[in-house]
Amino acid sequence: MSQLVDLVIFGGTGDLSTRKLLPALYQLHRHGLADRIGRIIATGRGEMDTETFRTEAQGNLRRFMADNHWSDAIWSRFRDSLHYVQVEAGDAQDYADLAGLLNENGAPIRLYYLATLPSLYGTICQHLDAAGAVNDHSRVVLEKPLGHDLDSCRAINEDVAQVFSEESTFRIDHYLGKETVQNLLAVRFGNPLLHPVWKNTFVDNVQITVAEEIGVEGRGSYYAKTGALRDMVQNHLLQVLSIVAMEPPASLDASDIRDEKMKVLRCLQPITAANVKACTVRGRYDAGAVAGQPVKGFLEEAEYKDAENTETFVALKATINNWRWAGVPFYLRTGKRLSRRYSEIVIEFKKQPFSLFANDPNELTNKLVIRLQPDETITMHTLNKKPGLTRNLRLQPVELHLTDDRSDKNDSYDAYERLLLDAINGDQTLFMRRDEVETAWRWIDTIIEAWDETAMPVKSYNSGTMGPNASTALTARDDRSWYE
Ligand code: BG6
Repeated sequence: MSQLVDLVIFGGTGDLSTRKLLPALYQLHRHGLADRIGRIIATGRGEMDTETFRTEAQGNLRRFMADNHWSDAIWSRFRDSLHYVQVEAGDAQDYADLAGLLNENGAPIRLYYLATLPSLYGTICQHLDAAGAVNDHSRVVLEKPLGHDLDSCRAINEDVAQVFSEESTFRIDHYLGKETVQNLLAVRFGNPLLHPVWKNTFVDNVQITVAEEIGVEGRGSYYAKTGALRDMVQNHLLQVLSIVAMEPPASLDASDIRDEKMKVLRCLQPITAANVKACTVRGRYDAGAVAGQPVKGFLEEAEYKDAENTETFVALKATINNWRWAGVPFYLRTGKRLSRRYSEIVIEFKKQPFSLFANDPNELTNKLVIRLQPDETITMHTLNKKPGLTRNLRLQPVELHLTDDRSDKNDSYDAYERLLLDAINGDQTLFMRRDEVETAWRWIDTIIEAWDETAMPVKSYNSGTMGPNASTALTARDDRSWYE
């Protein structure tokens, strides 16, 4: 019988906890996967008793969850597991109270989920330790952003490491919890058919797009200091890239997979002042319309007046210097207020050396299109004959769908549900290791330095488009185009 886990959420009344963590924990109950979860203790700065917290949690769950997922019976069980403790991050006495509660019939394993300002992670860990609330069976989950650059990331990692070993530290990147990202491992390493073509001899280019319709929402002050490169590329896009590009791991164990991802990150060629203008694009949304609704531009939104130098869109061409990928550009792009919300990986294969058909040769490529959201699909774009009697043989595209249509789309597992379950079970495979995060920051820092050195402009784009024209030019310079 596996041991019970008490989960303590710092930032327990915050946005992430309300929108993602508590709904994901409720879903674990609903899916019958909560047998290891003991108490869920939310902590926050506000004064509140557990009953009030439970009532608020119920209201929020109803708000953020599909109606048909609600069940009074499940809520009643979930409700009983919820507790609230007021904790001021720097107040030792508050931790003594928390430790007292944990020691009362506590579960053998404690999982601390830190969803506060990252600058508080070190303080929280030290106080937990001083209050005797950390033992050999305690684990910590760290939410992003893990710092603002390599130095600040290292400082956070150092502080946390004083209390928690690397084996007990779970750095979350919710993109790794998405169904299709995991399916990528299955498709890549489960199909010998794909193995020989997954390299520079056959692949022409790889594209990773994470497009959002939303703007910066209520996170203006964070975002104005952060920008799309730090907010999205440093973590989500580089994590996806490393899974697309990694070598077959020795096993599916966490350390084997993370070793291979790490090698890819180490092979990323630095983008410096010499090539930053040719390899990157920065954009910022102006007013426009998204999904038929008029929206304001980034600078018009009151809190961001000093944000002229913040990019809400970034496109870049990355190069992986190793045997498998030398010569294959990896085009990455992400942005807010784009024409529609979707995340997609496209593996575009090379054209035939010579075409026998009447089509434009540019039409004649095979592509594997891996859609992460809103739908989770994998499609191989192939070609066959256009039906008809004409002697002028033409090809037409045919899509082969590698998607499991049997899965119940209304009841898929959310990324946070999967990752919380893994953290509860102590499985680090889908979490980032310290060296991965730091290596990713090193690459990102070099780009930011090059932007500063060359005074790289932020080009405006209308909301509701796919970013500035310079993004189209980025691929066009190589005689390629974004797959739309
Ligand atoms: C977060 C970013 O990590 O990911 C947000 O901070 C972004 O700015 C979000 O909106 C996107 O996540 P998803 O799962 O909606 O694509």
